[in-house]
Amino acid sequence: MQELGTTLSSFIINEQRKLGSSAGGTFTGLLNDITIACKGIANLVNRGDLAGVLGVTDSENSMGDVQKKMDLIADQMFIDALENNGHCAGMASEEQDDVIHTSEGKQRGHYLVTFDPLDGSSNMDINMDVGAIFSILQAPEGIINPTAEHFSRPGTEQIAAGYCLYGPSTMMVLTTGNGVNGFTLCSSIGEFILTHPNMAIPEDTAEYAINASNQRFWEKPVQDYIADCVQGEEGPLGKRYNMRWVAAMVGEIHRILCRGGIFLYPIDERNREAGGKLRLLYEGNPMAMIVEQAGGAAYTGYERVMEVKPNGDPHQRVPVIMGSKNEVMKVMEYHKNA
Ligand code: F6P
Repeated sequence: MQELGTTLSSFIINEQRKLGSSAGGTFTGLLNDITIACKGIANLVNRGDLAGVLGVTDSENSMGDVQKKMDLIADQMFIDALENNGHCAGMASEEQDDVIHTSEGKQRGHYLVTFDPLDGSSNMDINMDVGAIFSILQAPEGIINPTAEHFSRPGTEQIAAGYCLYGPSTMMVLTTGNGVNGFTLCSSIGEFILTHPNMAIPEDTAEYAINASNQRFWEKPVQDYIADCVQGEEGPLGKRYNMRWVAAMVGEIHRILCRGGIFLYPIDERNREAGGKLRLLYEGNPMAMIVEQAGGAAYTGYERVMEVKPNGDPHQRVPVIMGSKNEVMKVMEYHKNA
């Protein structure tokens, strides 16, 4: 008989034991709730039009993005799964204006969870990669209904972060602050199995990901860096670069975790007032924690993403430049010299 392998739950239980953590049971329970949401979403994403989940709704989220049907379904699946077992004290979702309180009568736990239930959802209707991103914070003692301020904490306070990629296979990638591990969903037994232990981002790369159609809006340091990449081995960077754009951050970061690279969604003339394009709590901080834990770097161009001071708005935006350490530090040099 084929060996089952290490399931995500047994991996977490063992990790908690090694760290001598007393929170083992509830934390493992919380992660289990998240995996339940992700398995349910994976099933619908995988069935696509057969499940009737493609297309848009007539509503917009707080940032003015038109919501896809699957955005709303995935959001509700996260909320239901997180409420069910009482491990979570409150939630904040990219799809909701306000933070979400645990329903009356339901048990409250020790953790706050923020999530983007369907990252890159414009890929949904064209059968391309989408994902979910989540971040876990310790809930403040004695707070029954957490407010936006309780969630608005620097990324350095995260105790865990992860994403689930719904690609050709469904993968959960997770850090609890002790490295990064990847688990592949085995559909025959319905469990995430450890397939990518100790994921590490190569320090050097010649592959970048940026939406180049925004070029005319970028700041000078990013203009200069990309112009130098495009010159290849004849330019000052002395190597031939390749470019990729999945249009779902989960896909970009997963590629970088697997083979290195740099992902940029920089500040530009159009998003300057908003502070950037991607969301600090739902995208920037969790991905920065994963990237740093895998040996990479994550900056805004000016400071570490995880040290950005939250302004109290759970939908705060942030510029991001993350991935292979040496390449990110090179882009930081362009910023310092500008
Ligand atoms: O924030 C949502 C998101 O879909 C990211 O996952 C992705 O990196 C980015 O927006 C894509 O943006 P664009 O519309 O510029 O391709």
